[in-house]
Amino acid sequence: MINREWHLLSRPVGWPKSEDFALVEAEIPTPREGQVLVRNEYLSVDPYMRGRMSAAKSYVAPFELGKVMQGAAVGEVVESNAEGIAVGDHVLHFLGWREYAATDAKNVVKVDPDAAPLSTYLGVLGMTGLTAYAGLLRTASFKEGDSVFVSGAAGAVGSQVGQIAKLKGASRVIGSAGSDEKVKLLVEEYGFDAAFNYKNGPVGEQLRAAAPDGVDVYFDNVGGDHLEAAIGSLNQGGRIAICGMISVYNSTEPVPGPKNLARLIQTRGRIEGFLVGDHYDLQPEFVAEVGPWVASGALKHRETVVEGIENNLEAFLGQLRGDNTGKMIVKL
Ligand SMILES: NC(=O)c1ccc[n+]([C@@H]2O[C@H](COP(=O)([O-])OP(=O)(O)OC[C@H]3O[C@@H](n4cnc5c(N)ncnc54)[C@H](OP(=O)(O)O)[C@@H]3O)[C@@H](O)[C@H]2O)c1
Repeated sequence: MINREWHLLSRPVGWPKSEDFALVEAEIPTPREGQVLVRNEYLSVDPYMRGRMSAAKSYVAPFELGKVMQGAAVGEVVESNAEGIAVGDHVLHFLGWREYAATDAKNVVKVDPDAAPLSTYLGVLGMTGLTAYAGLLRTASFKEGDSVFVSGAAGAVGSQVGQIAKLKGASRVIGSAGSDEKVKLLVEEYGFDAAFNYKNGPVGEQLRAAAPDGVDVYFDNVGGDHLEAAIGSLNQGGRIAICGMISVYNSTEPVPGPKNLARLIQTRGRIEGFLVGDHYDLQPEFVAEVGPWVASGALKHRETVVEGIENNLEAFLGQLRGDNTGKMIVKL
């Protein structure tokens, strides 16, 4: 039995190329005392992984060259040397980009496949869902009646931000996305009040048309011209939560900041970045509030599912290109 796993061979410059990676065959690891062996069933690919491919110092260590990469995954325990975890249990853990993983029991969280589909623990009920919840409610201090703009709005985080805002009484929710089909989905299926395709014209102009009364909250997944446009449309006391800046992740040169930061003075606006890892105290509240919305269909979610470990890299690159609608998942 062979374990296939994705190694990082060289640090990408600009857009990652297939030569920077290799799908390598290895032995299936033997779990030591206190460990479990997991057969991964779903792997997550996430934009932050692009940062770990570079050597730059960040909040999480770079992937090591010549070694298997990491990421969130869910799978079935096929061997257990750990108390409290049995063969057949399903667990969430952090050793993705591979078919089999041996890891300490303390590094896994049991998940219930009967309570929700396994893949949702990587998305709407997992890290990206909590990111939307924490960023909107805590970092952006969302309150009923706010007008909310979110970029990357058809993606995993963005689609949840807009819907949570609606469910919690936003006066207006505006989203931007990179295709007309995504824009249609935002309005027709997710209940956004307005949406636009950022590729169809200047973001500032499109935002002003979609939010004539301005925005109280901007949830930034993109950075660049989106951030500048949001500052330009910010209302008094407006709040901007910086979740991600995917438009610059493959940049090879430093990217200029917004030209209109001085607007924060007149608006008394606030910009604050956040990391979901700092907000896991909200997990019980998040599951209690969002779980029933997902179960009832009040909060909708999509997944783009790519099959096979051999397509793990392509799924990751596809997400950076915008091939996904909702959470990008690899099914093994
Ligand atoms: N702070 C945190 O703790 C945290 C946690 C999770 C995620 N994040 C960040 O949140 C953002 C969304 O993550 P996600 O997992 O939900 O990914 P996602 O939105 O599901 O996928 C990424 C999307 O970004 C869009 N995109 C790519 N290049 C773009 C560009 N140049 N301009 C505008 N949009 C672009 C694409 O959609 P289009 O077709 O619309 O272009 C793509 O589908 C990312 O920036 C990520 O790094 C942060």
